[in-house]
Amino acid sequence: MEPSTQYVPEIKLAAAPSQNRMNRAENKEQLKYGEELIRNTAHYIGFKGTEKQITNGLNCQNCHLDGGQKPWGNNYLSVAANYPQIRKRSGKETDVYGRINGCLQRSLNGSPLDSTVKEMKAMAAYILWLGQDVPKGKKAKGSKIYPLAFLDRAADPIAGKPIYESKCASCHQSSGEGFLTPDGRAFTYPPLWGPLSYNDGAGLYRISKFAGYIKMNMPFGVSHKNPQLSDEEAWDLAAYVDSMPRPEKDKTNDWPNIADKPIDHPFGPFADPFPKSQHKYGPFKPIQNWYETQKTK
Ligand code: HEC
Ligand code: HEC
Repeated sequence: MEPSTQYVPEIKLAAAPSQNRMNRAENKEQLKYGEELIRNTAHYIGFKGTEKQITNGLNCQNCHLDGGQKPWGNNYLSVAANYPQIRKRSGKETDVYGRINGCLQRSLNGSPLDSTVKEMKAMAAYILWLGQDVPKGKKAKGSKIYPLAFLDRAADPIAGKPIYESKCASCHQSSGEGFLTPDGRAFTYPPLWGPLSYNDGAGLYRISKFAGYIKMNMPFGVSHKNPQLSDEEAWDLAAYVDSMPRPEKDKTNDWPNIADKPIDHPFGPFADPFPKSQHKYGPFKPIQNWYETQKTK
């Protein structure tokens, strides 16, 4: 079913395994370290990390809320059942380590970790543990990011700015650059743009992902049970934030088959006749319909 404009799911969403089960696990020390790394990533591997200095200072939890357990908070519950998988972005088979490295190099604008490194092993073990009850090949309800319905118009960065000032800037700052902890090692409020934010190859640079994420999770404290942003506000905020400057990633090897690009991936060449600006801000329905028609030809 296509989600309707103000559709908020009433169905029971999948939950993470209990803390008791973690305590009973043979590798519980590793799982606990993995969870700690997801929650406080910057402390260990951020720009002033105690173990390595390889990222921009974001925590995985900034985007994978509650340690990657929150329903519609970009949770990890579907990972164990769906990796390894052939990913269209790389055109290659990707396992959980490769997927974590995707976020390390894009969302955390940093360097990858080898699968033999203690921190990588612990994060992967924890993420796979979270999804242990999901049958192979199935999706956990409420995992990943909520698919927000498309608007009939283009999202508007100019309309997004005043909404940002009134609903987001108190934490993320008008500069978009967030707010550091007193020890300067991590963020109390993570940046949304600028040099320490996610780069333009990251998932949140696609405005559908950004809009779906904030609809169910921002301003901080809301959930899918009590969203505060209208769909239009979420899309316009996404357009505003993703029009601001941020680090650039070399994307030449991404989407080797250009027809596989998500319709809101704003970098050409495209397999369709729509301009770059429409791939960035929409309206997306005409692009979606164009691809549907191609399939039936
Ligand atoms: C700036 C936001 C951001 C940060 C920080 C971030 N991620 Fe992600 N991550 C995403 C987005 C967006 C997706 C794609 C979600 C979707 O497609 O619905 C994703 C997807 C994933 C997936 C695949 C989930 C699935 O079910 O397919 C894994 C695994 C993952 N991230 C691990 C991590 C780890 C580990 C870290 C920390 C080292 C991290 N991420 C930090 C935004 C982020
Ligand atoms: C009350 C403070 C607060 C407000 C207001 C707020 N946020 Fe956040 N935001 C946070 C915190 C804290 C996190 C990290 C959550 C965590 O680590 O558990 C976050 C994370 C994020 C992230 C993912 C991490 C990143 O840096 O990219 C995005 C995107 C985001 N917020 C967007 C918004 C938008 C858009 C608004 C306005 C509608 C907003 N936030 C309002 C506190 C806030």
